[in-house]
Amino acid sequence: MSRSPVTAVTFASPTAPAGYAWEATSEAVAARYGIPIERVARFDLNTAPAPPELAMRLLQAGRLDLPLSEYPASDYRRLVIAAAARYGVGTDELLVGAGADEVLDVIGKAFLPEGSTVVLPTPTYAMYRVLSEQRRATVVAVPRLGPADGFALDIDAVRLAAASANLVWLCSPNNPTGLAEPPGTIETLLAGLRADAEDAGRPIPIVVLDEAYTEFTGATLVGLRDVYPGLVVIRTLSKVYALAGLRVGFAIANSELIAALAPYRPPGSVAVASASLAADVLADPDILATHRTRVEAERDRLGTGLRGAGWKVLPSVTNFLLVDLEAPERAAAIAEGLLQRGLVPRTFPSDHPLATYLRITVRDLDQDDRLIEAVTSLLREA
Ligand SMILES: Cc1ncc(COP(=O)(O)O)c(C=O)c1O
Repeated sequence: MSRSPVTAVTFASPTAPAGYAWEATSEAVAARYGIPIERVARFDLNTAPAPPELAMRLLQAGRLDLPLSEYPASDYRRLVIAAAARYGVGTDELLVGAGADEVLDVIGKAFLPEGSTVVLPTPTYAMYRVLSEQRRATVVAVPRLGPADGFALDIDAVRLAAASANLVWLCSPNNPTGLAEPPGTIETLLAGLRADAEDAGRPIPIVVLDEAYTEFTGATLVGLRDVYPGLVVIRTLSKVYALAGLRVGFAIANSELIAALAPYRPPGSVAVASASLAADVLADPDILATHRTRVEAERDRLGTGLRGAGWKVLPSVTNFLLVDLEAPERAAAIAEGLLQRGLVPRTFPSDHPLATYLRITVRDLDQDDRLIEAVTSLLREA
């Protein structure tokens, strides 16, 4: 892989947070384009339309442990035991949150004191910048390598930018670019960060490694938590498990780091129903493999269909595809054409490095066929 020389970075001084920008809600799309709401399909949120059969069976049979008049157990004991077994870690190496987003928020509160600095390889998941700005941190944005290099991390530039940073945000596989870091990249980076900190006689930066999509690859770097004690790995039930509505996510780290996060965790933010269902789902041996296989097959089918219709679709190991439309105006026009048909893609603002792209979630056979048909007819009209 060709590596660019150490790339320019962008510094943003503490500013008021921009806030997370969503696409229009299904209700808004239905009202604006006069479409029945059940015809609106979400290709923007990286969620799957079908939750695990086990979850549906438990819900239908009313087989949930639901003391709704009470708060959840303060330590989410049953959920923590199931998650620790699933991820192969100790129960004291895990922190539960209302989705990965809440866990990321807790990390910001715990590790970004007044005047801190974060390193943000871009483009990446938008919430890292939002959360950093909420903590009034200085954000040092480091461009990733280009599409020909799979938008991989520029390790030298990240190391250099991290010289005085409190925290580095990493995401692999990366949202919205769709690929995992090449093997060994993150290990090399962590070793470099550690050596730099030792040379300078200062503490190592916290490294947040968001593995929200990692089950789609079967790989994880959770094992590095003992090698690099500042590593926090993020997992969620929203992606491969298709349970975004439950709002359950985790931080995994060595027990001292988890103990440092714990005081910042809001009490009882994961609902009793969510904690109960999540524990059952994590204990099931088959859900992960079934969902992964389904998404892989559907991703290949959707990718082939979109390429056949004339789109430039980038490779992905996740449940979403990045499509290069080569001009921001074209990306905006196609997005508008899709919205008119009730299909909601993820767009990027005109000043974003991916302004010429759309991000498309892999959904199911029916919705994906509607998308392929829409793209075919939009390109024919153009
Ligand atoms: C990389 C990444 N991290 C975290 C999240 C949020 O996950 P959760 O639904 O668990 O809050 C997302 C959601 O899209 C994501 O893409």
